[in-house]
Amino acid sequence: MRRTESQVQALAETDDKLLDSSDPRESQPEYVDSGHRALNEEILVLLGNCTHLGCVPGQNLDRGKSLAGDWWPGGFVCACHGSMFDYAGRVVRGPAPANLPVPPHWYPSIDTLIVGEDEPEAAA
Ligand code: FES
Repeated sequence: MRRTESQVQALAETDDKLLDSSDPRESQPEYVDSGHRALNEEILVLLGNCTHLGCVPGQNLDRGKSLAGDWWPGGFVCACHGSMFDYAGRVVRGPAPANLPVPPHWYPSIDTLIVGEDEPEAAA
């Protein structure tokens, strides 16, 4: 997903509502930024299955606000049981127990993204 500047800035609004207190390395490569959870903050790369029972969360601002309140700046809402994730895939409302995983990824050039593997130099 290509995030807008306002979507990246909105991550600050969920920083105090995060539910997954596990070690970030369990759900993201160590080389991604811990705040916006990406190599390139504009491009979000996530595995899109809810960490509750595997449904696919989608963007739904209105449903998010009805579930969580007007503070909700947008993100992903799971249609099955209402778990909510911010624009970095961080869980802010259960029953999902964990953040959406960030898979290994890297950019061999400015217009190419490889998902599913680490950059060769970083993997060595
Ligand atoms: S599968 Fe997403 S909240 Fe249950």
